[in-house]
Amino acid sequence: MGTHSTSPDTGVVVTGGASGIGRAIAQALAATGRPVALWDIAGDQVRQVAKEITAEHGVPALGLALDVGDTDAYAEAVRASVEALGSVGGFVHAAGIVDSTPITEVTADDWDRVLNVNLRSYALLVQALTPHLREHAGSAVVGIASLNAIVGNALNPSYCAAKSGMLGLNRSMAAKLAEHGIRSNVVCPGFIETPMLAQAFARPGARERMENSSPLRRLGRPEEIAGAVRFLLSDEASFITGTHLMVDGGTTETI
Ligand code: NAI
Repeated sequence: MGTHSTSPDTGVVVTGGASGIGRAIAQALAATGRPVALWDIAGDQVRQVAKEITAEHGVPALGLALDVGDTDAYAEAVRASVEALGSVGGFVHAAGIVDSTPITEVTADDWDRVLNVNLRSYALLVQALTPHLREHAGSAVVGIASLNAIVGNALNPSYCAAKSGMLGLNRSMAAKLAEHGIRSNVVCPGFIETPMLAQAFARPGARERMENSSPLRRLGRPEEIAGAVRFLLSDEASFITGTHLMVDGGTTETI
């Protein structure tokens, strides 16, 4: 027996698994042998990514078309995932959307959409999965928030509210879910090169400003978020719950 800690071998559900950070997380987990269920509104894409993961890593990978705002669809998604994976002992909420409308212009519909996908669905999905998570030792959930959970941005009040809301939700979930043996943590990415960020590059000078906001003078890679999430889901993080980890190249802590 080695002295290093191990990860549970239970399955993990990853929302937003079709693209960017969620996809990298699913790949990183599968690389250590954990079966994964990817839930994403982009149905064709998520089925394709799941196929690639099984081909590359030889673990069960289920790609499921799901709008995380559709709470009526949760029960069947949970059932199908437990069946395909054999167990669910981890959950990652990486599905997210951003709306770049300042407080002076944001509409009620856009506000609700951003809060629903990023925050409300995180709470209700954890609730839906808890009966399965509690069956296994070492279960954990991780929410993907943002540096906007900590630092304000004039362009996206709904996103800032949703992501900082994830921190409060996380603390409450950690306090309650410990009695079921489930840990709860949040990862706050900085500027990570994904399709979501590509939208922002349309603004002149945006890419350079993002790169220079980090003392490392570059954007992050999705795999660099995946490594932190995999750690928090593993037994190496067995005494870590209720907190958040900035994976932002130092952007938040420096000027
Ligand atoms: P992405 O746009 O590449 O991936 C997001 C995924 O979520 C997509 O596959 C999309 O289809 C899915 N999704 C969107 N709405 C959905 C819904 N209603 N139901 C199910 N799936 C839905 O974006 P990225 O960058 O990988 O973002 C992942 C997470 O990381 C998000 O929560 C985002 O807010 C967060 N984040 C990203 C940063 C970045 O710089 N890229 C920085 C900080 C946080």
